[in-house]
Amino acid sequence: MSGTIGWTSTPAGPIHGDIVIPGDKSISHRAIMLAALADGTSRITGFLEGEDTRATATAFGALGVSIEAPEPSRRVVHGVGLHGLSRSRAPIDCGNAGTGMRLLTGLLAGQSFDSTLTGDVSLSRRPMRRVIEPLTRMGASIAAEPGDLPPLRIRGGRALQGVDYAPPVASAQVKSAVLLAGLYAKGETTVRETHPTRDYTERMLAAFGWPIAFSPGIATLAGGHRLRATDVVVPADFSSAAFFIVAATLVPASELRLRSIGLNPRRTGLLAVLRAMGADIREERKREEGGESVADLVVRSARLRGVDVPVEHVPDMIDEFPILFIAAAAAHGTTTIRGAAELRVKESDRIAAMANGLRALGIAVTETPDGAVIEGGRLGGGSVDSLGDHRIAMSFAVAALVAKDEVRIADCANVATSFPGFVALANSTGFALRERGR
Ligand code: S3P
Repeated sequence: MSGTIGWTSTPAGPIHGDIVIPGDKSISHRAIMLAALADGTSRITGFLEGEDTRATATAFGALGVSIEAPEPSRRVVHGVGLHGLSRSRAPIDCGNAGTGMRLLTGLLAGQSFDSTLTGDVSLSRRPMRRVIEPLTRMGASIAAEPGDLPPLRIRGGRALQGVDYAPPVASAQVKSAVLLAGLYAKGETTVRETHPTRDYTERMLAAFGWPIAFSPGIATLAGGHRLRATDVVVPADFSSAAFFIVAATLVPASELRLRSIGLNPRRTGLLAVLRAMGADIREERKREEGGESVADLVVRSARLRGVDVPVEHVPDMIDEFPILFIAAAAAHGTTTIRGAAELRVKESDRIAAMANGLRALGIAVTETPDGAVIEGGRLGGGSVDSLGDHRIAMSFAVAALVAKDEVRIADCANVATSFPGFVALANSTGFALRERGR
């Protein structure tokens, strides 16, 4: 899909409105997976109609699960039970989705049949050793391409053993792959994290009735139970909301309400950092929905100053660094990011992609192996390459709002992986964003 659609984003604003952001990507993937393995029928509302999460739903179709889509953002999943999946006749295409591939690897390692997982060009370059290593320790058999890259060939019929595992990287995907394999393993599986990551797998396993003990940094479960169908309400994705939060902050005279945004504390590190920079973001109508805290966010423009991003916030805002680079570029003073080497192995090398793009717009950025130092200034116009990375494309669309001239962004098709309808929604709030070239 990538390589075809480019955008032109023109200085514009103010940013106004009352908007609904699509459903959370992480929760949508997990809802399909656990509903598919449950006994009975589960209804999902707020499901993200993105290419990544649709690829996961298609994968379970290929594994013999019947999933209906009665209307957009709804799915009815007829669960087949923990041992009810059947072999996919063709390799399973995870598209652009690291979450889809890594979680499926854990889950398929415990099946009685063989599976092959493939992905697009970007996913085919992403490291899989991080899941292969602990799953192999549990008894799985997974073959990869040289460099531990996809496609992954997972042998079925292996007897898995529980494991006590401390991942060397802070990764909810790794933690989740191990826990999902643990459903099929003999004995207890424990994951211990130095820096706690998002806990949606743990919360959702509990909601589907699987006994699990978890608190920030540790999760333990044992094999041999069953999942019971349940209905899942998916909140709006904080990571998608982040582009609009920064847009309304940067453009003078803006005021924007974002409805029912998921505010899981393991996701909202950006709020703390933006507030430390001087942002005016209020939480209204705070409540619990589907076991997650949600609130409307009301954002008013504010002048930002640079900060040192505390290293402990990094896992809680891992997907928000591209848009933080834009906030930092438009802030007064210097912003320093450290401890974020994981950004180099996301859908693109996000440190290099953001540093190169901002330099092309006249901002001084020094790259470091695990972060960057960004000197706030006045953004100019110019051409940037998103490298087919959805979050890089949307970040530069926001940058253009406060640039001196238009910004041309290459390779934007993959925005559909996480944020279908971004261009129309952005323009409805005051962006001047055009698609060009097909
Ligand atoms: C995700 C975890 C994060 C994040 C990704 C979604 C998840 O990856 O970057 O977009 O749903 O578990 P890591 O856990 O590998 O950092």
